[in-house]
Amino acid sequence: MAGITKEQLVELLNKDLALEYTAIVQYTQHQGVLKGAMYQSMQKELIIHAQEELQHATILAGQIDYLGGTPAIDVPPAKRSSDSVTMLEQDLEGENDAIARYIARVKQAEELNLYHLAQQLRTILAMEQEHAMDLEQALGK
Ligand SMILES: [Fe+2]
Ligand SMILES: [Fe+2]
Repeated sequence: MAGITKEQLVELLNKDLALEYTAIVQYTQHQGVLKGAMYQSMQKELIIHAQEELQHATILAGQIDYLGGTPAIDVPPAKRSSDSVTMLEQDLEGENDAIARYIARVKQAEELNLYHLAQQLRTILAMEQEHAMDLEQALGK
């Protein structure tokens, strides 16, 4: 997106924030219903992911407020399934979507010379890539 304004960036960050809330809800629900001995270590991973998504939401809310916006409180619907593999695939889908969004967001922040924000977004992006790696590993991808 060429020539992004600060207001447009705040709007996009608010969509990212809302999807972090969704990730918290989804990981919390999935870790509660994930079945099977082979998923025991993955269940612990999902709990860690949920906690890290909360950290991301907290960072984004602070940055949005700093940029003059009002942090969102809406929570887009999470995905659920009764099948463990499907659940992990839904989680991976969410991570891949987050990775694509944050790659764009880092560039947009830098375009506006918001280097502190860009740095924070890079940290979040690296964590989402780690989450995706965990899920890919569990899915044998
Ligand atoms: Fe996140
Ligand atoms: Fe994540």
